[in-house]
Amino acid sequence: MKRIAVLTSGGDAPGMNAAIRAVTRTAISEGLEVFGVIKGYKGLIENKFQKLDLRDVGGIIERGGTILMTAREPRFLEREWREKAYENLRKNEIDGMVVIGGNGSYRGAYDFYNDFGFPVVGVPATIDNDISGSDYAIGFDTAVNNAVNAIDKIRDTASAFERVFIVEVMGRRAGFIALHVGIATGAEIVLIPEVEHPIEKLANDVIEAKKKGKKHVLIVVAEGVASGSSVGDILLKRLEPHGYTDIRVTVLGYIQRGGSPTATDRMMASRMGAEAVYALLRGEAGVMVVLSGKSIKTEPLDIAINKPKKIDKKLYDLAWKLSL
Ligand code: F6P
Repeated sequence: MKRIAVLTSGGDAPGMNAAIRAVTRTAISEGLEVFGVIKGYKGLIENKFQKLDLRDVGGIIERGGTILMTAREPRFLEREWREKAYENLRKNEIDGMVVIGGNGSYRGAYDFYNDFGFPVVGVPATIDNDISGSDYAIGFDTAVNNAVNAIDKIRDTASAFERVFIVEVMGRRAGFIALHVGIATGAEIVLIPEVEHPIEKLANDVIEAKKKGKKHVLIVVAEGVASGSSVGDILLKRLEPHGYTDIRVTVLGYIQRGGSPTATDRMMASRMGAEAVYALLRGEAGVMVVLSGKSIKTEPLDIAINKPKKIDKKLYDLAWKLSL
């Protein structure tokens, strides 16, 4: 192996830059040349390669977003476009590739590896933390902290008015962000797609919380359940007969995905990025780097494909227990 490519794909996640830096510097220190692909699979199809040297990845460990830029590229779902991408890799004499991204990016990496046997290694990076097979995905800790900081502020005003507040957080179809944010902010109620929570029960939970003397009721809802505003509308209808006149809704949105990565994300990105290069050098292909307990290792990519990652039921129970 002499030359590798690295790309970021799908939703950007804080820490992607730290991962690009780790891949580049590890590869160069092992005597490899590194090329960044601009805008993920789109750049692979359109032959947008850029050589990365040691200094090109300086001063980026603390930056959110991705210096290589990113895209969601539906063409990569079709074999004819993957062939084009493969031709471009051959043309640029690339022997292996590191794909930094989430579930959609892994689907592409998996198909690409199966089509051509090309050595691909995935690095998990998505604020949703929903990649099956890895305990952690780069960006999650920063997103959770961003949401916690915002909700701490919302709580001040919620208490002052004794209001019911709904805060919608990201996570796509998964509830990992909501669950962690709910526990870390001491939310009264956490709604996640993995656990059904009927609206009658929700209304009752609000009433009970008020009876217990709580000043405010903070409900964290994962976007995978429903939009915060639709939950708010339905809930208010149920609560009106009990004297409630309004519910305030905040959608945290893209604030969660931006900003400087936390130390945890920089550490994970550095360890995982380096491991991806070592995996290529060991001759591994069609694998992803994972965090398993405290260890960084590799697992076959297919573990992540089509298997929803399970939430930790104990954490969910804890969220409820501590909101008494
Ligand atoms: O996967 C990361 C994520 O931020 C999800 O939480 C969210 O549903 C989605 O991306 C938003 O995607 P886009 O940036 O394409 O609007």
